[in-house]
Amino acid sequence: MKKIYRAHILFTRERTRFEVLENGYVAVDADGRVTGVAADLASLDAEDAEVVDFGDRLLIPAMNDLHVHAPQYRNQGIAMDMELLPWLQNYTLPEEMKYADTAYAERMYRRFVRDLWRVGTMRTCTFASVHTESTRVLMRLFQEAGMGALVGKVGMNRNCPEGLVESVEEMVRGYESLINSQFTIHNSQSLVRPIITPRFIPSCSPEMLRACGELAAKYQLPVQSHLSENKAEIALVQKLEPESTCYGDAYDRYGLFGQTPTVMAHCVFTEGEEIALMKRRGVMVAHCPTSNLNVTTGIAPIRQFLDEGLRVGFGSDISGGHDLSIFRVMVYAIQMSKLHYQRDHARSFLTLSEAFWMATKSAGSFFGRVGSFEPGYEFDALVIDDRELNHDHYSLLERLERFIYLGDDRQIERRFCRGKEIGEPEWRC
Ligand code: GUN
Ligand code: FE
Repeated sequence: MKKIYRAHILFTRERTRFEVLENGYVAVDADGRVTGVAADLASLDAEDAEVVDFGDRLLIPAMNDLHVHAPQYRNQGIAMDMELLPWLQNYTLPEEMKYADTAYAERMYRRFVRDLWRVGTMRTCTFASVHTESTRVLMRLFQEAGMGALVGKVGMNRNCPEGLVESVEEMVRGYESLINSQFTIHNSQSLVRPIITPRFIPSCSPEMLRACGELAAKYQLPVQSHLSENKAEIALVQKLEPESTCYGDAYDRYGLFGQTPTVMAHCVFTEGEEIALMKRRGVMVAHCPTSNLNVTTGIAPIRQFLDEGLRVGFGSDISGGHDLSIFRVMVYAIQMSKLHYQRDHARSFLTLSEAFWMATKSAGSFFGRVGSFEPGYEFDALVIDDRELNHDHYSLLERLERFIYLGDDRQIERRFCRGKEIGEPEWRC
């Protein structure tokens, strides 16, 4: 049935400014798509529609997380005293090994999906682990929750502990079994779908990278990985792929750089040729500011990426990042861009509308028409009750800003994904 929601509506059609509709209306059809947004009911086709009034609350697009590692959830907020490569070897990969046990995976992944729900993230690009059956568990949980997710069984077969090595044949069989499973029917309309996920160049042999590119092409699946995160990593890639002209080119040679929709996490040291290649191929950047701080990689040049027209969204990158909330990540991104600006005034820092746009409309574009309330968009939304943040002296935009800077899940009263209200998952966690 068609619904019309009434609330104070805020969203970013454009990067540089908010649309603000005080006591506005958004109409959503039975398929969960927005059919109109307006300041008054008379401008919408309200016939046969149920009108739902959210009163003095804010209605905003839900958050999208373009890069997160589900099997690192137990390590959130610990093990922050090393740089990337030793951090992976000593803390991260040993935790991921535990996901050979599907009972452990079920327990931890329930918490992970429930907490994504809590923080208002309705779409996620997630790394799972190498384990096919645990990856299937994670896909089922997203499906049961009603939340959108691209879930990646991780490909890796070198520079990692014995227990995480899979042969190329096993990896392909694992992917095909997920692609064919009842939860992940290969259907571009499905909210939960597989995504091809070579961990990064240092952990995949050329044969494995080639097989990943072939899977992406054969099943027309998106691709995710890590790119230019750390200087030691980049040097290693240059050694492993000496023919490549840049890190991005190493992926490109295997059909893993925009041949199908691609998102690359970090891009801290991406410049020149790599930027040009990403732009040409529409490769999206998942900016992970908390992770960049914690594993001390540096400050990604996000303003430059935006100026050059690259597609950019945010990732929480748990557990390199420590905070699952994309609202928190947004604030870190703004603050880090101000640090960058203090060193180099050539480019300005990120504004609130730019960060909000990145988290909603820009990141949402990786999942289809997601992240805005313009007609044709899937209705992914959060209802924010910010009474306890003393909103009475603030404008609507200031109320949203205070929620982003000071609020948390206690103010998120309702959540919608593709038009459907999503309640708290009922699992025991
Ligand atoms: N590069 C390869 N694997 C990882 C990972 O798990 N986290 C981060 N931050 N970078 C990586
Ligand atoms: Fe990561």
